[in-house]
Amino acid sequence: MSEGIVVLDYGSQYSQLIARRIREKGFYSELFPWNSSEKSVMEKAPRGFVLSGGPRSVYAPGAPTLPDYLLESRLPILGICYGMQLLAHSLDGKVAPASESEYGQARIELIDEQNLLLPVSALEPEFDVWMSHGDRIEQVPAGFNVLARTRNSPVAAIGDTSRNLYGLQFHPEVTHTEHGADILAAFAGAICRCQRDWTPAKMIDEAVEAIRKQVGPNRLVLGLSGGVDSSVVAVLAHKAIGDRLTSIFVDTGMLRLGEAEQVKQTFEQTVGLNLISIDAADEFLDMLGGVVDPEQKRKLIGERFVRIFEREAKSLLDEGDLYLAQGTIYPDVIESAAIDRPDAMRIKTHHNVGGLPVDMEFAGVVEPLRYLFKDEVRRVGTELGLPDEIVWRQPFPGPGLAIRIAGNVTKQGLDKLRQADAILRQELAARGWLRDQTAQAFAVLLPIKSVGVMGDGRTYEQPIVIRAVQTDDFMTASWARLDYDVLAYISQRIVNEVDGINRVLYDVTSKPPATIEWE
Ligand code: XMP
Repeated sequence: MSEGIVVLDYGSQYSQLIARRIREKGFYSELFPWNSSEKSVMEKAPRGFVLSGGPRSVYAPGAPTLPDYLLESRLPILGICYGMQLLAHSLDGKVAPASESEYGQARIELIDEQNLLLPVSALEPEFDVWMSHGDRIEQVPAGFNVLARTRNSPVAAIGDTSRNLYGLQFHPEVTHTEHGADILAAFAGAICRCQRDWTPAKMIDEAVEAIRKQVGPNRLVLGLSGGVDSSVVAVLAHKAIGDRLTSIFVDTGMLRLGEAEQVKQTFEQTVGLNLISIDAADEFLDMLGGVVDPEQKRKLIGERFVRIFEREAKSLLDEGDLYLAQGTIYPDVIESAAIDRPDAMRIKTHHNVGGLPVDMEFAGVVEPLRYLFKDEVRRVGTELGLPDEIVWRQPFPGPGLAIRIAGNVTKQGLDKLRQADAILRQELAARGWLRDQTAQAFAVLLPIKSVGVMGDGRTYEQPIVIRAVQTDDFMTASWARLDYDVLAYISQRIVNEVDGINRVLYDVTSKPPATIEWE
């Protein structure tokens, strides 16, 4: 990065969002733990800093502090919530517990049309913001003006225009704050004078060049799952080093209808990848025979997957140094360097192929997506010419359909589930609902039977559950309120077209208390 905004993370749950919103507005931004070394931050040549919110009180013993080099740099600074209080506290303002904490929506009133809030004040003098704080500024530091207030926060925004130091008590990064992204964009553009030219596609040439340089004349191996992250890595690495990339695709037999063929076809024929495709379906099915415990299924599948991947990767070792490519994305990187997990900072890479550790020595790890958010990876995928089915693929768990057949996994069960799942996804895809009405939608096969009547005969068959959820982060989720007529049509198709299914249920449980998957 150069000429972008560095966001220093003080532990707010919204820190990632700040960098994301700034990027969405076309300015580059990266997130660093607040106590990162001056060198690591300044070598990014930032044009300004944002200090995130955080859970502490600035006056509490051991609370995170403002690194000296920030003010010394004379670059613009925008503090948000804790960040604003820290700025005020460090500049001899006064921060104290508020008599009333302020959580949730508040109406903000602009007092002074200083440039940071200008794009907003031009629109309206009052708007809704999102607050979450227990402390407040009692006295602003010398040189600062109060720019806005709410009923409970007489100091809701401050600014010192001569030094380009600003503070917001509210969170501009959350969507509940009206014009929040515009305020961040005004900071990055009008105040920090960043170039507004960041697009995810801009990283393509850089990433290709970086891979070429890192791998040199050596070889690179990638575990290709068919998900968007590993697929984008495959195309970038292939552009960089062509046949010296070997991608390994393991068909566990737990994939959805036509999925293995689609992945092979796309990458062999369209992209021209050097693909080792292992059909291990029988091996996995045999191994799972009689296993009903979900965690046991996960463990067995994970171990077997790693063994197969290692075996194939090791066969490439004979030909010189071997690098490992991974689809690590920015949220994984931030997570492993999170400030409340200092030990995690020693973790340099995510040794996961299909989400699993690999016990093998590689010359190095290649992670071209480590600065991208998921939606940015998708845009790069489209730019690289990957088909929509891959770019917009919903998350699919490593253990695959094995954890969507409750209980014992059999070939017959897999066949039924695959057909039902394909009908569900076809109908949702036809309406565009795999992109905007559901974050994840799939079918589950239950190990029980119920009585039905078809034609003139009695049936005694298994039910299919339809699970469809809405979520941004997959940590919590609500069940998707799909249209009843569409559900009725899908139910009818499944019962008519899939042998051995005579009933369809719709799961109306959120997460929590349920999880997204059934096992
Ligand atoms: P849960 O069921 O925990 O799922 O609410 C949250 C997200 O994680 C995915 N998931 C998995 N992904 N291996 C994976 O690679 C797994 O064992 C696994 N279990 C759940 C799930 O599909 C959802 O997106």
